[in-house]
Amino acid sequence: MTAPDLYSLPKAELHLHIEGTLEPDLAFELADRNRITLPFASVDDLAARYDFTDLQSFLNLYYATMDVLRTEDDFAELTRRYLQRATAQGVRHAEIFFDPQAHVARGVPFEAIVDGIGAALADASRDRDVSGGLILCFLRDHPVDGAENVLTAALERVDSLIGVGLDSAEVGYPPSLFTRVFDRARAHGLHAVAHAGEEGPASYISEALDLLRAERIDHGIRAVEDPALIEFLAQEEIALTVCPLSNVRLRAVPDLAAHPLRTLMEAGVRVTVNSDDPAYFGGYIGDNFVAVADALDLTPLEAMRLAQNSVESAFAPLDRKVALLHEIDGWAERAGLPLT
Ligand code: ADE
Ligand code: ZN
Repeated sequence: MTAPDLYSLPKAELHLHIEGTLEPDLAFELADRNRITLPFASVDDLAARYDFTDLQSFLNLYYATMDVLRTEDDFAELTRRYLQRATAQGVRHAEIFFDPQAHVARGVPFEAIVDGIGAALADASRDRDVSGGLILCFLRDHPVDGAENVLTAALERVDSLIGVGLDSAEVGYPPSLFTRVFDRARAHGLHAVAHAGEEGPASYISEALDLLRAERIDHGIRAVEDPALIEFLAQEEIALTVCPLSNVRLRAVPDLAAHPLRTLMEAGVRVTVNSDDPAYFGGYIGDNFVAVADALDLTPLEAMRLAQNSVESAFAPLDRKVALLHEIDGWAERAGLPLT
């Protein structure tokens, strides 16, 4: 039997920074359109810089390049291109992170960001039955005041959002700093997620759960260092939105073969596979599934479990989740796999 195609496996993407889908060719297109001179000689010159030593070395380029995003149309075009690639790799539901502080500080109106991303999501929902939503991420390495202020602005448009998250440089910026901001966001009905345990210690994962009441943990791979935490994550069915190619490119793990994804799965943790910043890390979500399945010898049933986990952990209505789980069953049936 040939191996089932993991690209066509229906899945939800739960950890995706829209700014991290900015491919070098689009960066130059938008720079031209907005009459901006990028500090790179060419598309190839920019692409050649995608060689990172850690999270900070990536973030430096990520924040520099996103300067080309200026208008609602720019955010719509960026999101349209992402959704095209993602749906070609099986994404049926996408929860999209965005970093408004990094744009508002450059004079981009908050509304232009959410309306642009929202328009592309609405088109994909109408034309391709893709569902999804927006998760506003606070920059943890900026003063907390900035997060408070952007949340105040965002609450004017709270219906455009499904949740809040926490990202950017992790070490030295513990979740506890953002307890009050997350309290406010949750009081307005927003879901909560947080990056933790990517480069930072396992204790940041516990803090994000206890203090921010995060419902999912983004990355969370350093949970493997704390057996009691692993047991807790498994028992409470808290999803980790793991991004294997990102972890290799940012050197959180030495290579895919050493990735703790299998260990976490076998401990009963609800692991999902996602792409993080696919334009920078060498692949979109299907590429992540294929690469990690190859490196860790995941069976088709294990890959299917990862996809089921993603749907079960999504902030989507129950009827949508049931429909997507049926789509996964249909994929398994066509691939000749036993239904679980
Ligand atoms: N922002 C974009 N990608 C990120 C990552 N992998 N970790 C933290 N912040 C980010
Ligand atoms: Zn991330």
